Amino acid sequence: MQPLDAILKPQAIAIVGASRRAASIGREILHQLITYDFRGKLFPVNPKAEFIHSIKAYPAVSAIPDPVDLAIIVVPREDVLGVVDDCGRKGVKGLVVITSGFSETGEEGKRFEEELGERVHRYGMRMIGPNCMGVINTHPLVHMDATFAPALPLTGRIGFMSQSGALGVAILNLARQLDIGFSYFIGLGNKTNVSGNDMLLYFEDDPETDLILMYLESFGNAQRFKEIARRISKRKPIVAVKSGRTEAGARAATSHTGALAAHQGLDIATDALLEQSGVIRVNTVEELFDLAMGFSKNPLPRGNRLGILTNAGGPAIMATDAAISLGLELGKLSERTCDELRRLLPPEASVQNPVDMTPKSDRSKYEACARVMLEDESVDSLLVVFVPPMVISAMDIVTGLEELRRQYLKPVLGVMMAPEEFFKELNEQHPNHMAIYVFPESAVEALAALDRYRQWREKPLGHVRQFEVKRGAAEDLLSAIRAEGRSQLSPEEGGRLLECYGIPVAHGEPGADQAELERRAGTYHYPVVLKALSPGLVHKTEAGGVAVDIRTPEELLAAARAMRAAVQKRQPGAAGDGFHFLVQEYVRGGREVIVGMARDPKFGPLLMFGLGGIYVETVKDVVFRIPPLTDLEAQEMIRQIRGCRLLEGVRGEPPVDFVGLAEILERFSQMVEDLPQLAEIEINPFMVFPDVKDFRAVDVRVRLVERA
Ligand code: COA
Repeated sequence: MQPLDAILKPQAIAIVGASRRAASIGREILHQLITYDFRGKLFPVNPKAEFIHSIKAYPAVSAIPDPVDLAIIVVPREDVLGVVDDCGRKGVKGLVVITSGFSETGEEGKRFEEELGERVHRYGMRMIGPNCMGVINTHPLVHMDATFAPALPLTGRIGFMSQSGALGVAILNLARQLDIGFSYFIGLGNKTNVSGNDMLLYFEDDPETDLILMYLESFGNAQRFKEIARRISKRKPIVAVKSGRTEAGARAATSHTGALAAHQGLDIATDALLEQSGVIRVNTVEELFDLAMGFSKNPLPRGNRLGILTNAGGPAIMATDAAISLGLELGKLSERTCDELRRLLPPEASVQNPVDMTPKSDRSKYEACARVMLEDESVDSLLVVFVPPMVISAMDIVTGLEELRRQYLKPVLGVMMAPEEFFKELNEQHPNHMAIYVFPESAVEALAALDRYRQWREKPLGHVRQFEVKRGAAEDLLSAIRAEGRSQLSPEEGGRLLECYGIPVAHGEPGADQAELERRAGTYHYPVVLKALSPGLVHKTEAGGVAVDIRTPEELLAAARAMRAAVQKRQPGAAGDGFHFLVQEYVRGGREVIVGMARDPKFGPLLMFGLGGIYVETVKDVVFRIPPLTDLEAQEMIRQIRGCRLLEGVRGEPPVDFVGLAEILERFSQMVEDLPQLAEIEINPFMVFPDVKDFRAVDVRVRLVERA
């Protein structure tokens, strides 16, 4: 027995708070369990009633003589803890708490929820909720609908979990209309005990579930989600609609990484998380259904080549445009296929893909042409478009395709631009029918998602490499800075940190004051860069604290005097104690990239890579990922920025060392994973060249997390 089986496959359920009042939630749930014909025993619990819904009621769970697996709790919040104790004494192993008024309502509710969580844990029970809409298992041996959603679910192979109750109800209603069935429906509620991750793990091994759908508003443990979802999505597709653009966590952002993460909202983190986990993200519930239909009713395509069969030009053009823009191709039909089609169709028809059969085409034409196209090697999936002319019935066309599609291991999707009555009739005449859409774009989106998922399945995950680094030295450095009560590292300290992880830094001589500069000016290798350093100086360039391409000792000393005066004028606080200079090698000719990390309180660290220097502010061409990075993810991060062409070299320039750059990102990721005391770190610019030996971090900013 899996611990969650007590909740999802119970043999006896107590409904605590089953009310005598019609239309109350407690009574609705009992009613729903009966109407859906639950295959086990039901025990209403209500101290004020002898029977409810014609069934004997008990005053408490502990008064029920039989064993009870699951208690569904629908009593007012103040009574919930008492009921949990009673269930604990009785040995109940599963709870579903419908009652609301917990952490979603504020501090007092939060305290109730913490106490609830602790008690459930103490009794060794598992609990879904609180503040949830219940659970459904459609398996014929269980047949449990313990929700208050009016629509009874259809049986299918989709495991669905929803953090929103209201949306859950809407989805159950709509799913029935669209002929979409579920294996399970789980209202997650506040996720105090059973989390979304727990449900993913349950669905992973569940033989009744082939496709996982999620509506999520928050991630409890993003790192763990990534780990689990990455594994499961290789076996079963996961489609998620993630709402709630919450504020980004990097509030105290002093870096571009933090600011960009904040600017784009947590969405950027969610996108990174879902992409790295192989989860297909959709933005609307409508899209969720489009994909659910596509995935649940079709095998995966073998490639991205689409065949389109239509009786009208317009919708096929729309479908073609959508397909190309989503990365699909139109398959090039073989000579033989074209000949066959020519034989079947009138001369005015087009036998090239998209195949336009003309409006006269009836069921037999559709069937014959679809078969010819499905036989063609160059068609990985088939989209059949039908715009009903008066005399030909859409249902007839579907009937023909229904028989045919089962003979091929290729996705076949329909676009029926038919009146509403057709769709009503369709479910009756063809239960479990093919995926049928009203608009070509929706069907193509589903096909493109199927193909993206195929690619994810085929793609290796890569490895998280561990490099030999000086972790101890890095930790000592950060502890010493902490001991001084600072959270901002100086650029030279930042440089030392990077060097501990094998990230090359522009050579520099720190600590020189004006007098020392005068003594040592003759010893530097010119040209050099002079930088002003001071604990209070974060934005050096704006304060006049950077001079580049200094070619002689005289220029250096003049620049130093001017620099001190400029900082004194623009940021007087930074020109006092602790002000000094850094003389750095002048790194020329490379291309500038940015490598950064901002730690988000919810998601943990977010890595960023993009074009550096002025590009960061102007084109914001950056990509985010959640560490640890695999070798393949590091390569992908570089390839995904829009400006990757600039790194490949334009107008005869040689490309930068991609392998070397990917390794830098992996080392950076290792550093971020090793050192949780880092809040933000940003190398900008990081100068990259055709040879990794010349790579240099020119400027680095590091901030430590504030101590609690
Ligand atoms: N054990 C058993 N039954 C109990 C009980 C206990 N300890 N305490 C009370 N009851 C009974 C009551 O007697 C009542 O039955 P009755 O109507 O026959 O007298 C029944 O439980 C319900 O109690 P009541 O006080 O009428 O509460 P309610 O029905 O108005 O509200 C909730 C209860 C749980 C529905 C309500 O508190 C709530 O949380 N509503 C929001 C639910 C929600 O939206 N959840 C999230 C969905 S996504």
